[in-house]
Amino acid sequence: MSDPDSNGASANPPVRRLADWDAERLSGLAAEHGTPLYVQDLDRVRENCERLLSAFPDADVRYAVKAHTGRAVLEAVREAGLDAECASAGEVDRALAAGFGGDRLHYTAVNPPARDLDYVVAAAEQEPDLTVTVGAADTLDRLADRGFTGRVCLRVNPGVGAGHHEKVRTGAAAKFGVPYDRAARVAREAAERFDVVGIHAHAGSGIDADQLDSHRELVSRMGDLARSLTTPSDGDGADATDAASADPLYLEYVDVGGGFGVPYEEDAPALDLPAVAEATREALGPVPTADGEGELDLAVEPGRYVVADAGVLLTRVNTTKPTPGEDVVGVDAGMTDLLRPAMYDAYHPIRNLGGADDEPAPAERSATPVTVAGPICETGDTFCENRAIARPSRGDLLAVGIAGAYGYEMAHQYNSRPRPAEVVLDAGDARVARRRESLPDLVEVER
Ligand code: LLP
Repeated sequence: MSDPDSNGASANPPVRRLADWDAERLSGLAAEHGTPLYVQDLDRVRENCERLLSAFPDADVRYAVKAHTGRAVLEAVREAGLDAECASAGEVDRALAAGFGGDRLHYTAVNPPARDLDYVVAAAEQEPDLTVTVGAADTLDRLADRGFTGRVCLRVNPGVGAGHHEKVRTGAAAKFGVPYDRAARVAREAAERFDVVGIHAHAGSGIDADQLDSHRELVSRMGDLARSLTTPSDGDGADATDAASADPLYLEYVDVGGGFGVPYEEDAPALDLPAVAEATREALGPVPTADGEGELDLAVEPGRYVVADAGVLLTRVNTTKPTPGEDVVGVDAGMTDLLRPAMYDAYHPIRNLGGADDEPAPAERSATPVTVAGPICETGDTFCENRAIARPSRGDLLAVGIAGAYGYEMAHQYNSRPRPAEVVLDAGDARVARRRESLPDLVEVER
């Protein structure tokens, strides 16, 4: 069932396709726990961590927690040896609860609300090795106002972005990071008040092989900036980063962000991660430490790559409707459960696992072009349009693939829909990791 083109016979293939999942097992889980249901396989999460660690053997690999914050996933990632990159106080709280110590915690503050800064500064008192990545000089002042003097990494806007959709291309968006030509000055000023340990940039999310040039460009700019900060300058002023003639900074690492893409379409090739790692190293070039005795570490922050192909969303066919234009298959999951198709026009593979009464196995049905639509009152609430799927019938179970990243995480309660349940698979066992929300959960916060 595996895809021979991209997977070969490897025990740890570069992608797990939807067709690689055990259909009978998934059907059993849906019958037991109901739908919509997320299934997240921790063994696959571990394999993804392993591939990352072996492609980037000397780098700090930090899991971007926002892709999937479930406790079981965080613990698996921690045990696999990755650090945690967190985008909010909530994520820091979850990472701490999952056992990440401050030395493995990186909080990236994007326009941080006061409440988040308060939380993180208090957390850093307990965990002084926690690092705060800051993308505006103003945020440095706000940290100083709170008495913070700890580890700071400066987020830079390198002016190069990439990613699967304009909404997730961050590298050149003004919102993120200190403009490149001011970064050296801000880093030096910060070093007077904080322990400045690194510089950071993130091109965007879902970078595929075609966009590697942008990734390389970003990394190379970050390498130049880092060298200008760690090596004494001759003060000729020729340096675009305005770092000339200043004392070297004792940086530890250059973090070039995450964004490694995964193939959503069945025939899209998997990213050649070792090649990406090599290109990244090459583009960064050696960055000497300030004492000249070593080199800065490379850091990367993948989120999607760790969890995307470890998750599927199971949904049941409620209604089928022939129309003059197309056949509409209504399912019990919607954009509230998996927002990506509605928000980014994202493609997710869909497979009919069968189960409808009086219907043959899906393999024996003809592939019919259908629109798969959710129950939300929005036209955008569709998972695909006119896609050929083994003719779905009421009662069939559909599996939506590559749903483990930004799937449950972006689930919400619009249309007063309780969020789905999630089961994790762990070395053959299955357990409920997040229970299905109930109608009382919807009104729990109302006063
Ligand atoms: N580092 C930073 C600072 C980030 O902002 C992100 C993602 C990552 C790392 C991880 O990127 P990844 O390796 O997962 O591509 N909801 C969107 C993705 C938004 C990503 C935002 N930042 C989606 O479903 O495609």
